[in-house]
Amino acid sequence: MTVFLYDTENEGHTVVGMTESAMEAMGIFDGDTVSIKGKRGRKTVATVAMIADSDVSALDSSVVKVSDDGEYHGAIGMTKDAMKNAGVRAGDSVTVAPAPDVKFGKAVLILPYGDSVEEAGLDASEAGDLFETYLRPYFEGKFRTLHRGDSFHVDGPKGLIEFQCVEIDSVEVDGDSACVVVDDTVIECEGEPIDREDVDDLADAGYDAIGGASSHLAAVRELVELPLRHPELWTKLGINTPRGVLLTGPSGCGKTAMARAVAAETGAYFFVINGPEVISKRAGESETNLRRAFEDAEANAPDYNGAIIFIDEIDSIAPRRDKAGGEVEKRIVSQLLTLMDGLKPTSKVIVIAATNRPGVIEPALRRPGRFDRELDMGIPDEKGRLEILQIKTRDMRLGKDVDLEILARGSHGFVGADLQQLCMEAALECIREKMGLIDFDRDRVDKKILDGIVVTMKHFEHAMGVVHPSSLRESAVS
Ligand SMILES: Nc1ncnc2c1ncn2[C@@H]1O[C@H](COP(=O)(O)OP(=O)(O)OP(=O)(O)O)[C@@H](O)[C@H]1O
Ligand SMILES: [Mg+2]
Repeated sequence: MTVFLYDTENEGHTVVGMTESAMEAMGIFDGDTVSIKGKRGRKTVATVAMIADSDVSALDSSVVKVSDDGEYHGAIGMTKDAMKNAGVRAGDSVTVAPAPDVKFGKAVLILPYGDSVEEAGLDASEAGDLFETYLRPYFEGKFRTLHRGDSFHVDGPKGLIEFQCVEIDSVEVDGDSACVVVDDTVIECEGEPIDREDVDDLADAGYDAIGGASSHLAAVRELVELPLRHPELWTKLGINTPRGVLLTGPSGCGKTAMARAVAAETGAYFFVINGPEVISKRAGESETNLRRAFEDAEANAPDYNGAIIFIDEIDSIAPRRDKAGGEVEKRIVSQLLTLMDGLKPTSKVIVIAATNRPGVIEPALRRPGRFDRELDMGIPDEKGRLEILQIKTRDMRLGKDVDLEILARGSHGFVGADLQQLCMEAALECIREKMGLIDFDRDRVDKKILDGIVVTMKHFEHAMGVVHPSSLRESAVS
């Protein structure tokens, strides 16, 4: 089903809208529970509300069809929170199925996000209040569905606060994945607020966040995703699955972003080793750090769809042994070689390394069985730049006069990071203009002003004047 934004005002995070014909085709009724499967294995549950055909008639997908594989094709209206929980955006597609088995909840643990609580000016000790002022009014008498991991905003006396459902015990199963919250359900909200840093920071990462790299994406899928998903393709042929992929390319071309995207899409266990950070002058510590990373990845691989160890800026920890001086670096290189050679053929672990200086890393690392695949991301061409601009402006309100094609044409030599900065500068310039209208003493910006913030071509032209392509800058220096 194709997702569109369903603005329900205060209906809550788990109400989704479907037309009568869509509900009929699926055999469900107003108020029924459905499960929704979005991207990257993300799931949520929701209550269906009937919406008028006219609400979706603007969409081609308002007509419901059932394809041969039994999937329904139509439109489903989801709130922003619901979309986030399913890991999708408007226009993406989700799989919807009736979920009559979702039980009533016995107890649920719901915690607020720390930053959200802070913004509202509350401190953690007021958790009890949160129940009375936020959660109880939100859930009481509403029969809301809840999936473990769901995040949702609740409006209350101190403004919006975002919560996450951490644990669910249904009347039948402790540690259930979903439930319907009824008035008997015990809602607990005492505990440390959730630190956003700790939560899945891959939530925004995905192949669709990377532009101008379709051929690289295809290559990465072949080199990383395939061996993680179907190692038997290799073992059958009697060869070892690929172990290491080296991503190269100038700074800011999206190497780190690419590795995160692969991890998010495959759902693999993701362990990041930051080159400069791992180096410790204390004898042996860096090697121990490395060894732990490999052990951790191997141990976790079976529970996820494999594991990816990502070594960012590998040049800083594995420079050529003949050149680079440091004893520490030399030991780290040998340790890394040993660890890569020691990965069992059956273990679903892949190491991705990134560098913008492929020339300076130890050549032994690039021998077969180690980082024997290389992927040069390079500087994007005009078409690539257009794609990246489209991605970076996806959540921006753009004026009608903004022509991304012109910007793409005029930004020769810009890498992804430059284009991102370009969009940010344009947005900042736009905000700067409104500065005089903003009342700094008020907690929130007036809605009228917010609605008036539209980034126009003029702002982008200003940005073009301040942002310069880093690739050209670098070559001019060296
Ligand atoms: N092709 C791209 N599509 C979308 N965003 C991109 C792309 N390339 C870069 N970016 C954005 O630019 C920023 C920098 O990218 P990233 O950190 O991946 O670069 P990098 O190649 O790892 O650079 P460095 O060598 O300096 O580490 C990120 O925020 C990323 O989202
Ligand atoms: Mg990087």
